[in-house]
Amino acid sequence: MDKIILAIESSCDETACAIIKNNELLANVISSQIEIHQKYGGVMPEIASRLHLENILVVINEALHKANISLDDVSAFAVTRGPGLIGALHVGLQAIKTLSLIYNKPIIPVHHLAGHIYANEFVKPLNFPLLAVVVSGGNTELVYMKEHLSFEIIGETKDDAIGESFDKVARVLGLPYPGGVAIDKLAKLGKHTYSLPTPLKDGSLNVSYSGLKTAVINLVHKEKQNGREININDMAKSFQDTAINELLIRVKKATSIYNVKQVVLAGGVSANSYLRSEISRMYENSGIDVIIPPLWCTTDNAAMIAKVASYLYDRNVFSDLSLGADPSWKIEDYLKF
Ligand code: KG4
Repeated sequence: MDKIILAIESSCDETACAIIKNNELLANVISSQIEIHQKYGGVMPEIASRLHLENILVVINEALHKANISLDDVSAFAVTRGPGLIGALHVGLQAIKTLSLIYNKPIIPVHHLAGHIYANEFVKPLNFPLLAVVVSGGNTELVYMKEHLSFEIIGETKDDAIGESFDKVARVLGLPYPGGVAIDKLAKLGKHTYSLPTPLKDGSLNVSYSGLKTAVINLVHKEKQNGREININDMAKSFQDTAINELLIRVKKATSIYNVKQVVLAGGVSANSYLRSEISRMYENSGIDVIIPPLWCTTDNAAMIAKVASYLYDRNVFSDLSLGADPSWKIEDYLKF
């Protein structure tokens, strides 16, 4: 019998529905709210929830249409249960519970970051043991996976997420949201002229971005007070180099400690062009394979949720209608709910 999974993702500002049949992606529909949140300089949670409510049935309907299947054909309904914005997560969860109740098919709860990691399977199969470098607006984690669906955090940020620091630095430089995109673009025009601090030197696999962000903010204010202009391109380049190099030092250290076959990038910041090129260069001729996710997988989508759900389906990891959203679900607790 065919395994047909309909998955929903609504953890932040994208309302998405995807359908996979066995391992073939039949539909991948995304409604992005980014233009609306851009006016506020960041995602407004209440507005995000309302827009998910407006869009959820539209994306489901469009996905069914594209996949040319009906809801009766679906084997299981998958949904992002966390982490993310609580109100936003609830919209996807309630939609999936309703479908599960009506069509009497199981629910598969999916971890958003596991989704970003498994998005790499749209490039090639994951090969274990591996190191996943999870870098997004809300998370910065080095995740060791010894096999499918096994996640161990071996390093993480002690304060801000890397994407959050890109967004905050962009804001102080007067650049639009999402800041990472703007900084990446301007950094290509700049030179690394500003010397910025990298505060955490404890020899661990952890990182810290709060001090770096504050250093940029203080420097920008100081230059203004002294009547000098910041060179935005140079600052973008200096900040980006510092932030990404800090991460890469930990990645390199992690792969020298853990014996991995693969390194995979995951999350919104994996769209960063400097990170993508440097990590590939770092492992050239090393025997360690690097997977760089396609750009469409670096933003939120439901195809990656369906991908994880497919593995969970094979292991009968299902939930009942009592399933709740968990806005701060840890990836290590993944199979405990
Ligand atoms: O958190 P995330 O995976 O998205 C959602 O879950 O919605 O990705 C968004 C983050 C933001 O902080 C954004 O600034 C960052 O990813 N980002 C980037 C780039 N593109 C997006 N950061 C650095 N360079 C980029 N090219």
